[in-house]
Amino acid sequence: MEQSLKGKNLIQPTDFLIPEIDALIEIAIKISNKLPSYRKVAEGKLLATLFFEPSTRTRLSFEAAMLRLGGKVLGFSESASSSTAKGESLSDTIKTVSKYVDAIVIRHPKEGSAFIASQSAEVPVINAGDGGHYHPTQTLTDLLTIKKEKGRLDNLRIGCCGDLKFGRTVHSLVKAMGHRKNNEFVFISPNELRIPEYVRTDLEKTKSVFAEVTDLNLFIKDLDVLYMTRVQRERFFNEEEYLKLKDIYILDEKKMELADKDLIVLHPLPRVNEIEVGVDKDSRAKYFDQAQNGMYIRMALLKEMLGV
Ligand code: NCD
Repeated sequence: MEQSLKGKNLIQPTDFLIPEIDALIEIAIKISNKLPSYRKVAEGKLLATLFFEPSTRTRLSFEAAMLRLGGKVLGFSESASSSTAKGESLSDTIKTVSKYVDAIVIRHPKEGSAFIASQSAEVPVINAGDGGHYHPTQTLTDLLTIKKEKGRLDNLRIGCCGDLKFGRTVHSLVKAMGHRKNNEFVFISPNELRIPEYVRTDLEKTKSVFAEVTDLNLFIKDLDVLYMTRVQRERFFNEEEYLKLKDIYILDEKKMELADKDLIVLHPLPRVNEIEVGVDKDSRAKYFDQAQNGMYIRMALLKEMLGV
């Protein structure tokens, strides 16, 4: 890689330049083709995974990535088991953990928390999700999957469907893809769950074409990528509102019949009801491949950030 990512933080999806992201994708593809030859790359290095919010894929794929590189991992998967439960500030936790490890991965329910963490850290910090804000390593995962499946990261019409208000994976993906050439976005959501103002403002800055609509059936046929999302129950202030909106879009086999034969369906997972299990056998459903790509791209990311 020409520009080095060694020692850098990854807090926002655009913290890395497009050539740096493209290089990471290439490294991830190489790793996926030759996994065993990377097994000693991070020997002697230690990664902390600090998860103040639930996770399956992100935490385990980071841990698998570090272990497959020959490094080691420590951390916690709920804030109740850390000193936060005793009232310690995030900043003090990070200062302390910095003394033990070579890099920190953090997920936290508060927007901006990963940035705050990076201010106190003496080692690189990776944002694994800060509230409803951003989730840049999910975006790297999504970009790797789109690149593998469509062969390009530009000139795509991308539909994002579901909870576009609280879905940090959508905010991050849109920010990253909006910086590439000729991508268009169709945002499919109920009025209550429209994309936030700051995402819209970003798209206006990059002069990206986008539309906000409510009907999935009407627009599915025009898409290259359909990015489905879960309604983010934990971010609602009111359970009644969640119950009203939770099953608003359900992708089923009938809707898939309306779509292009080259469409790909992505989902960051976990899924609740928004994709029927019957869709899984459709060759256009790529969400479990996407989860696997998450490990490869995190291997590439750790390798480069640790400079090993
Ligand atoms: C996503 C997240 O945590 O934002 N999950 C993930 O990291 N793969 C999506 C979600 O929780 O809905």
